Amino acid sequence: MSQQAELEVGGKVYQLPVVVGTENEHAIDISKLRDESGLITLDDGYSNTGSCSSAIAFIDGEKGVLRYRGIPIEELAEKSTFIETAYLLIYGHLPTSQELRRFSELLTQNEMLHEDMKFHFEGFPPNAHPMAILSSMINAASCFHPRLMEGYQPRNFELQSARLISKVRTIAAFSYRKSRGLPIVYPKPVYKYTANFLHMMFSEPYQDYDLKPEVVRALDLIFLLHADHEQNCSTSTVRMIASSRANLFACAAGGVCALWGPLHGGANQAVIEMLEQIHREGDDGSKFIADAKDKKSGKRLMGFGHRVYKNYDPRAKIIKEQCDRILHLLRSDDPLLAIAKKLEEAAMHDEYFIERKLYPNVDFYSGIIMRAIGIPIEMFTVIFAIGRMPGWIANYKEIMDEPNSRIYRPRQVYVGPREQHYVAITQRDT
Ligand code: CMC
Repeated sequence: MSQQAELEVGGKVYQLPVVVGTENEHAIDISKLRDESGLITLDDGYSNTGSCSSAIAFIDGEKGVLRYRGIPIEELAEKSTFIETAYLLIYGHLPTSQELRRFSELLTQNEMLHEDMKFHFEGFPPNAHPMAILSSMINAASCFHPRLMEGYQPRNFELQSARLISKVRTIAAFSYRKSRGLPIVYPKPVYKYTANFLHMMFSEPYQDYDLKPEVVRALDLIFLLHADHEQNCSTSTVRMIASSRANLFACAAGGVCALWGPLHGGANQAVIEMLEQIHREGDDGSKFIADAKDKKSGKRLMGFGHRVYKNYDPRAKIIKEQCDRILHLLRSDDPLLAIAKKLEEAAMHDEYFIERKLYPNVDFYSGIIMRAIGIPIEMFTVIFAIGRMPGWIANYKEIMDEPNSRIYRPRQVYVGPREQHYVAITQRDT
């Protein structure tokens, strides 16, 4: 028999169904509460609100578990690739070799941008942030594919989603080249997804970039580890926009904007800026940690803490292991890695961080790998966006495939002035 919760307000009792997820998570379904009682629930920042039921990613924040479609992130990191994982997230199963071949072919066929889009890139000023260019250009790209405006069509969704995953990589690389005043490098169909991105970023018209397999693998892993993370700020944004039935590219452009903030995807850039500052000032990390604990300083230990994880972020664990390996392979001796390790060590033994269960998150070490590869700091959040694209698309598809999905429209508790009357401007100065 299904469980019920009881809520008593003002002597009246309301029965509320309890929904149980496949991992035995329990949630009280309050969707009919207002109709029956006139009451709404209030949860600033949604920290205790399930906004949807979803079958894409599972997180157990207490245990530090992350699974995509049931598969542990550690297994995917070891055995899969970003593109195979993207397929898994979007379509719900690991692809057969034929499905994977078809998906890869679609990505290759759609890697170019319409030539006229180059004029749009020219409109941005030098040094424009690549995240601004990325979101604008994803939205602009929708104008070149007018069938998107017909709304979600299951029969052409495969093409639209492959188009987006493929083109976002080209737009990202072009944004970087533009922001540095460098000539654009076109994609090469012989390269696989991540190699092609590195080629467009770092090749020159007169010389191809030397694609080291370990560098390609490291970046592919970063994409894979970022590919989904259930109802985070940007994914919730994508779902919010999708619920209005906006097109896939518009939803993704909104996701990029939400990701940009330093409390979300922008944290990877903020971590490196923090480590550079510590290095510059010759601090051993203790001054920064003291500041991060002092609310008045306005500083936080970037790359630490998470709304859901109250344990070590499993993605951070994988990236930390990779950091040593990649830096060794590239013969890089980045002093920031030593500072990051020292900071982590100090924070993990500090009562403030222990009490609040603040552990390193995915952003704490990812920037160090990206620096070692040669990715410029302003591109870090763009890399996150490329990686997160399959997760956004999977969430978009989930909404569109749900016959009963409704527009997202939260309520509020109004705390503004009660009814008052308009005062004519001539009477306001007296
Ligand atoms: N440094 C210092 N104190 C912190 C930190 C931090 N990084 N994170 C949280 N706290 C404190 C916070 O001040 C509060 O203390 P108190 O209880 O005394 O008021 C307590 O811990 C709880 O923090 P919160 O702000 O209520 O937690 P939240 O769930 O709203 O925020 C967070 C989560 C990730 C925004 C936050 O931990 C943070 O700002 N971290 C730094 C930015 C960062 O690394 N973001 C990347 C997140 S992971 C990738 C992603 O999802 O994009």
